[in-house]
Amino acid sequence: MIRDQAGRDIIDCLSCAGALPLGHHHPEITEVLVRFIQSGQLHQALDLTTPAKFEFVQKLFGLLPAEFASRARIQFCSPSGSDGIEAALKLVRFATRRHPVIAFHGAYHGMTAGALAAMGNLGPKSAPMRFDGVHFAPYPYRYRCPFGTDGSATDRLSIDYLRNLLSDPESGVPQPAAVVVEVVQGEGGCIPASDDWLRELRTLTRQHDIPLVLDEVQTGLGRTGSMFAFERAGIVPDVLVLSKALGGGFPLAAVVYDESLDVWPRGMHAGTFRGNQIAMVAGKATMDIVQRDRLDAQAEEIGGLLAQDLRQLASRHPEFGDIRGRGLMLGVEIVRPGDHPDAGAQDGGLAKAIKQAAFENGLLIETGGRHGAVLRFLPPLILTRRDVGAIVDRLDAAVMQAKQQHRAADARHAQ
Ligand SMILES: Cc1ncc(COP(=O)(O)O)c(C=O)c1O
Repeated sequence: MIRDQAGRDIIDCLSCAGALPLGHHHPEITEVLVRFIQSGQLHQALDLTTPAKFEFVQKLFGLLPAEFASRARIQFCSPSGSDGIEAALKLVRFATRRHPVIAFHGAYHGMTAGALAAMGNLGPKSAPMRFDGVHFAPYPYRYRCPFGTDGSATDRLSIDYLRNLLSDPESGVPQPAAVVVEVVQGEGGCIPASDDWLRELRTLTRQHDIPLVLDEVQTGLGRTGSMFAFERAGIVPDVLVLSKALGGGFPLAAVVYDESLDVWPRGMHAGTFRGNQIAMVAGKATMDIVQRDRLDAQAEEIGGLLAQDLRQLASRHPEFGDIRGRGLMLGVEIVRPGDHPDAGAQDGGLAKAIKQAAFENGLLIETGGRHGAVLRFLPPLILTRRDVGAIVDRLDAAVMQAKQQHRAADARHAQ
């Protein structure tokens, strides 16, 4: 809950784009930080090993599947998910001596040059820059199947497409240095890949000797109902990029990768503010709390309830075209309902109006996805059943308000 200057309470269903897994001002985090700041330990230490860094890495590696952690190295990055992606791309390019990478339609990996090159959304790529070396493949977006099916064959066709792309000597795509992918696309519209699809992708990348880079900047640390979203599929990546929740609300990013890829020369990903100690202390404490309070399981349970309630709202709001996501990473795709000439099309205008009305009703949500038509819910993992009720009530009121405004605007337009 946040309070604005007018004294209005607002439910923060965005938690700083997922960077606050325990919400604002969690008392245990505040306490740990105050103690640390007064302890006389280094607050900023660059590459020195410190107790804070040691404990952080021990904790993180303890949470990762043993199969991955036992062979893993870690690179701290400048504190943003984007820089984590830059580091990951550099790492695999050094290791494979190849340049191209494969990314997916709808992907969001950040705003720096390399990360931006791997982004699906063309809007932020309109800068007069050169984005070379990235080939895009269709993501398994079942609701709007890129292959024109009703969604039932999307996963299979997406994998078949990739298999063909990687094995056809005339595909025009040289063997890539990596496949980089989000397990649940976030900014692309909250689109989860299925466990089967992920397993198939893992098999395919192994067969072709291509490092699999999982971007869990948004999904990492319990958000999707497991500590890391890839775990549910029972696979391990070659490279894992983490940020957002990793620093417990403070800026931190890291790349965890298989030791076989560790061939880049020392200092290849330097940067002054890598490995901020305060973020490591907050991050370590956050990991402790997520694990102790089983907040990953809570995210799954409470996220399930929120999804259920959103589905109930959909019976009164036919504009809710698709409700999807995993754990506490949920999206509602807003569409033009039945008898509208553009029936079924995304309605970014209404989504934006709902977001605005929700804010006026004390609910902070975001929009994303194609045409900005997906309402996005990314609340802290401490969300309770009671909060779900309040969120849905405020959303319901916001949708009714936004629809009325929309109808009035349509009527004015028609006159
Ligand atoms: C999946 C994913 N990767 C990378 C990024 C970029 O992170 P940052 O905004 O910290 O640079 C984001 C940000 O939303 C993200 O969702």
